Amino acid sequence: MKKIFLAVVLSITLFKASADEGMWLPMLLGEQVYADMVKRGLKLSKEQLYSINKSSIKDAILIFGGGCTGEIVSDQGLIFTNHHCGYSAIAGASTVEHNYLQDGFYAYNMSQEIKSTLTVQFLDRIVDVTKDVEDAVKGLSWDDRIKKIPEVYKAITDKVADKENGLTGRVYSMFKGNQYIMYVYKTYRDIRLVGAPPESVGKFGGDTDNWEWPRHTGDFSVFRVYATKDGKPADYSTDNVPLKPKAFLPVSIKGFKDGDYSMIYGYPGGTNRYETSYGIKLKNEIENPSLVNLRDMRLKYMHEQMIKDPAVKLKLANSYAGIANYWKFYDGETKQLIKFHTQQQKEEYEAKFTAWAKGKPEYENIFADYAKNYAAWTPYSKMRQYLNEGITGSPLAAFAASFVSLEDKLLKPSTPSADIKKSIEAATASRKAFLEGEDLPSDEKILASVAMMFYNDIDKNQHPVGLYESMKGTFGSLKEENTFKSWARDVFAKTMFLDDTKWDAFTKAPTAAALQADPAFAFASAFVKNYNSKYASLFTAFTNKNAELGRAYLKGVMEMNPTAVKKMYPDANFSMRVSYGNVKSYRPRDAVFYDYVCTAKGILEKYVPKDYEFDLPTKQIELLKARDFGQYIDKAKNDLVVTFITTNDITGGNSGSPVIDGNGNLIGLAFDGNYEALSHKIAFDKDLNRTICVDVRYVLWCIDKLGGASNIIKELKLVR
Ligand code: ARG
Repeated sequence: MKKIFLAVVLSITLFKASADEGMWLPMLLGEQVYADMVKRGLKLSKEQLYSINKSSIKDAILIFGGGCTGEIVSDQGLIFTNHHCGYSAIAGASTVEHNYLQDGFYAYNMSQEIKSTLTVQFLDRIVDVTKDVEDAVKGLSWDDRIKKIPEVYKAITDKVADKENGLTGRVYSMFKGNQYIMYVYKTYRDIRLVGAPPESVGKFGGDTDNWEWPRHTGDFSVFRVYATKDGKPADYSTDNVPLKPKAFLPVSIKGFKDGDYSMIYGYPGGTNRYETSYGIKLKNEIENPSLVNLRDMRLKYMHEQMIKDPAVKLKLANSYAGIANYWKFYDGETKQLIKFHTQQQKEEYEAKFTAWAKGKPEYENIFADYAKNYAAWTPYSKMRQYLNEGITGSPLAAFAASFVSLEDKLLKPSTPSADIKKSIEAATASRKAFLEGEDLPSDEKILASVAMMFYNDIDKNQHPVGLYESMKGTFGSLKEENTFKSWARDVFAKTMFLDDTKWDAFTKAPTAAALQADPAFAFASAFVKNYNSKYASLFTAFTNKNAELGRAYLKGVMEMNPTAVKKMYPDANFSMRVSYGNVKSYRPRDAVFYDYVCTAKGILEKYVPKDYEFDLPTKQIELLKARDFGQYIDKAKNDLVVTFITTNDITGGNSGSPVIDGNGNLIGLAFDGNYEALSHKIAFDKDLNRTICVDVRYVLWCIDKLGGASNIIKELKLVR
């Protein structure tokens, strides 16, 4: 990948995919890429991978919820995805008495399935709309082009929108705006929970093992798509029936060996493989350390409360998992970028590019312009991170900040009263949702801390004017942590957002003055307004310029390496991709060898009674000790294989993706990446990058033997 090669070959290979690198568009697989897949072990035709007219693997793949992948595994619309993808639906269906998150859940017949608010989206077709986009923005300056693009996308997607059949289009910019492709999706909105393992399986190892191999997590959950009798998307209804899908994946329990072919379809959310040395420097020096520092603090206070009370744990679990996941990711990302010297490698490549570009007006100033653009924004980037990850990292402050637009409406005499009434109704509904998820003790500590951290760590010239002076006037010296604590206590005691009586009074007679007098609103809105009035336009200018330079840079890279273009793929952007590689062991560092699978034996080795992350219920221990693995046993390892690793190139968004063998059968579900290659969004490492997958045989063992849900197994098409 972007791995760092010898300087001589750098100019040719830096952006050419190495063997396993690449997130390919399944509908636009070049001959060269397809031939390589066959060489690696694929036995299927191109038509079986993606076809417009016939059913193909792409029809079994779906976008699950807001940011994951799932796959259809039966002719009755059964879905497999990750446990962490179904997490909020499972938590939402749980109570302290029926704690499905903790204990697991299985529907033993369809009537026991639990409705959710999830949607899934199938890919219907894709259309290259580059010409339509370019024609519509021809002759515009870059800034006008950026302003116009949403409108252009809308005009294009309006043409394919079909409400009755649930069809919508989305246009994706590929190669940083050098190509535009529309994907048309069909969205289903009656999705029911069918099964989930207990957390001792689905989240075994917790955040300690997250992003790490070896791994013993059974990260799966099971859902089902429902539709009207004629297969159309519909809201939840008891009249709906399981969807008859266009395609579903057979499930292989044959097992595999180190080196076997593996292919992953799914929706990788975002990569930036063409990031510049400037972007990496900013990330490593400011953005990532600030985020990690602020999340450390937030997680500490949440965790303190979660371990005390199962009800608080249930309430905060989903939000905690999300914060913790990317806290560890960004910490690891910078560590790996430094280890791989990625910034320096980029600098070398950029110097070569600039030498090539000399005398070519379209390209020769790109890196001088990057330097200027980063120099202009860098002084404010920490403040922006402290606003996003700090100030609005307090749930109360984030909620209060959302009232800035209502304040605007209240200040404008011309706002129709019906409009205000509508906003107040919406605010009352979102307040209810906010209060359901709110944990006061942790949030009060977070608020005190972020106020103090912003004060200490951010340039005083960038503070909201007057805010800290007035805090000092009422609560005392800003050198004392206690000042911030007493201030936060006072905010929590007085804010109307946490007080029904005050809230009712406000909603009966909403005025801007009443809002401004609220201490939570006064605090949060001061930061938002400070940012919006002084810095937002600088940030927009910065990102717009980067986009303009990025597009030109990528065009130049392609021009400079014409032979490498066939092996180039666009950055991930949550559009469907396929990646191919092999099951493969690795050596993470000197003298250490990591096998390609983890087995049930290792679950018992990691078991720590009463531990927050490594505890196991008695039944699970007994079953594992009894070694009753039935048809799911791996003969070569003489054990139950729990997880395995492959060389596939994936990223966040691929969670839940099917891992498919050379014959098109499901062998596992991708759920994570390994720590040694956490720089993968920026640079794929051809030696160390691994995708961590749960073995489908472990999934079936958990459903069947641990969960007793043989009804689910019976629906599958097993390949033995
Ligand atoms: N790292 C995984 C991903 O981003 C998420 C795993 C969730 N587990 C956890 N312990 N937070 O897809």
